[in-house]
Formats: sequence, C-alpha cells, structure tokens
Amino acid sequence: MKVLLATQKPFSAAAVAAIKDIVVNAGHEFAAFEKYAEQSDLVAAVADADALIIRSDKVTAEVIAAAKNLKIVVRAGAGFDNVDLEAATKAGVIVMNTPGQNSNAVAELAIAMMIFMARTQFTPATGTEIQGKKIGIQAFGNVGRLVGKKAEALGMEVMAIDPFLTDEQIIAGGAKPAASLEDLYASCDYVSVHIPATPQTVGSIGYDLITKMPKGATLVNTARKEVIDEAGLEKALEDRPDLKYVTDVAPDNLAVLQEKFGLRVFATPKKMGAQSAEANINAGLAAARQIVGYFETGCTKFQVNK
Ligand code: 3PG
Repeated sequence: MKVLLATQKPFSAAAVAAIKDIVVNAGHEFAAFEKYAEQSDLVAAVADADALIIRSDKVTAEVIAAAKNLKIVVRAGAGFDNVDLEAATKAGVIVMNTPGQNSNAVAELAIAMMIFMARTQFTPATGTEIQGKKIGIQAFGNVGRLVGKKAEALGMEVMAIDPFLTDEQIIAGGAKPAASLEDLYASCDYVSVHIPATPQTVGSIGYDLITKMPKGATLVNTARKEVIDEAGLEKALEDRPDLKYVTDVAPDNLAVLQEKFGLRVFATPKKMGAQSAEANINAGLAAARQIVGYFETGCTKFQVNK
C-alpha cells in the first residue's frame, strides 16, 4: 500500500523519518508531499495513494475523487473539519483522527498567549499578572483539561463548561462547572476556547457573549476561526475598549482589527498550536500506527465517519 504524508505545514524532519520507518517496516511504500503551494497540487499528488496522513490539509470531495485507490485518511491531530466526511463515507474511505496527541502543545500555547496579552504583547507598558484571575474553559476535552491544570498551577481559578460532560465530570477534571455559557463569559477574566468547528458552533461566539466578559477580560482562541462571529467580535472590541482578543487562528478581518485595536488584538502568523517537536512525533507516529494497524487487523479505533 502507498502511504502519502501530505502536509502543507510540515512535521519536523525527525517526525517524518519516524513515520517513514513505521510505514516501511510494515511493508508499505512511503512518500512525503510537503509544503505544497496550491490545493490543485494536493489533488494531483493523491492519485495513487492508498492512505493519507494529513494535518489541516483540505481533503475535499475533489481530493477524494482524485484518489482512486484511497482507503483511509488519518488526520494527525484532533480537528477533522478539514475533511469532507460525507464524500469520504460515500467513497468508502475511513477517516480517523489522533485525539489527545498534540493537546499539550496547544494547551501550552493557550497559557503563553494569556501571559503575552496580560503583559501587553511584551512591550514595556505596565501589564497584569494571571495569578489570582479566573479562567473559563469552553469545552473541557483533551486540550481544555490540560489548560485548566496548567492555569491552576499558575494560581488561577478554573471554571469550565462542556455540553458533553456532567458537572461531576467537570469537577473531577479540576474545574468549577459554569451554570451556562453566559455565566462562563460573565464570570471569567480569560475565556479559552476549545470547541470544534461544527454546523452548531460556527459563528457561535459573537457580540452578546463577548460583551458579557468582565472589565479588562481577554478571549483566547486556539481552536478554529470559524467559531467566532467576526463582525460581532469587531463590534464588541469597539464598544468595550477594555477587552482583548488573542488567537492562533487568524480571523479574516485581522487587518481591520489590528488597525482599529492595536495591541488589544494578536494573531499568530500561521497556526502553530500543535507545532512542537513532541506534538509532531506524537500525532505523526500515532497516525502512521493507525494506518498500519488498519491494514493489518482492520482496527477502526478513532474512526470519525462511522
Ligand atoms: C488540531 O486540530 O489537531 C490542531 O488544530 C492542529 O492542527 P495542525 O496539525 O494543522 O497544526
């Protein structure tokens, strides 16, 4: 079988070498297709692939149609909103993710972003400390729970909400359950967003929620840009000159936000939450093992299009 590692944002060389070892030692062919420029390049590259390992690469219906031999796609990471699940299912292609493998890297970035904004983007202006402040975690999954643990260790009070967890589970994870999403936003100096982009969540964080935040609060988004209602965010920052926004997933209206709000807004130049050597190894190797396992035993653990 041919396993293609198709990553526009490449893994470290060490991770690629280790992925190759797993694939080749299991008797498969390996090829890497990295740093490609256009989506059409990806469409062309997948023609003879039996399996794909991807990151945020867009596996559209066109990609799936072009990959005539494709049997399995593994998203080396958590979010799979970049894969057309319907097209994959129709074509009989199995889609998996590697949940938890890059969570620590993203959680560390969320904490770093809070401190960066608290200290006015590392300028000499007087900032604030995060110790003693309250953080609200929106979605208490793999990343959210790690953010909570780290925030607690830094002296923050931790609150969380998650539609898939009971209050008891949130308490067991070390956070105080919020009564509602509105309560979370109204109670916390920082809200860290960890929801996936789904039809239910797209555009769900807008003016009403953001302006509920207390004076001087910061919204931290290491999840997906699509979950933010960008016009609502812009209006909230306009009406509330004390609020800040920091993100690892740049909004489409970033230039406008930066021009209007200066140091109150920051976005990383390219999504980098999962871009640590450790996360590359964890997620990349897990993806390779899942593909090899599927071909050897038919194991479909972590399949997301069941
Ligand atoms: C994820 O969903 O796992 C993260 O957003 C990481 O995405 P990346 O692999 O494109 O860095």
